[in-house]
Amino acid sequence: MRIALGCDHGGFPLKQRIRTLIEAAGHTVVDCGTDSDCSVDYPDFALKVGEVIRSGQADRGILLCGSGVGISVAANKIPGIRAGVCHDTYSAHQGVEHDDMNVLCLGARIVGEELAVELVKAYIAAEFTHEERHVRRLNKVLEIERRATSGDFN
Ligand code: RB5
Repeated sequence: MRIALGCDHGGFPLKQRIRTLIEAAGHTVVDCGTDSDCSVDYPDFALKVGEVIRSGQADRGILLCGSGVGISVAANKIPGIRAGVCHDTYSAHQGVEHDDMNVLCLGARIVGEELAVELVKAYIAAEFTHEERHVRRLNKVLEIERRATSGDFN
């Protein structure tokens, strides 16, 4: 699997550990920055990861910021991106299995490195189940996205 990995300065302390983990598991990292703890703006990195996924250069993404919240809010504005902040392992795999989550967001100021490793392992190992009820719900989410992107809201 090709995984786009991006972070802001708040997420940077976790980035190298996550990168090493992904590569050790036999997957490819598409590095979307940032590359230091200098202050940057998380939407820029959410956008990079989203664009890499949309272009087909990566299958999924992982985004890191201080809380996981800002970068997930930004990522979810990008059509085709289904991002979730998951700080427990159940959500990290169930978000993929039921909701077809394609970007895992973590808060580096919230979770420690070892929990982050478990969360990423759970996320990477999970697959969307394609069960009828999950497909039905996903299609409803995609219909909301279609309406939003076609200006079909008051
Ligand atoms: C940066 O200080 C911080 O606001 C950001 O990383 C993130 O936590 C926002 O949700």
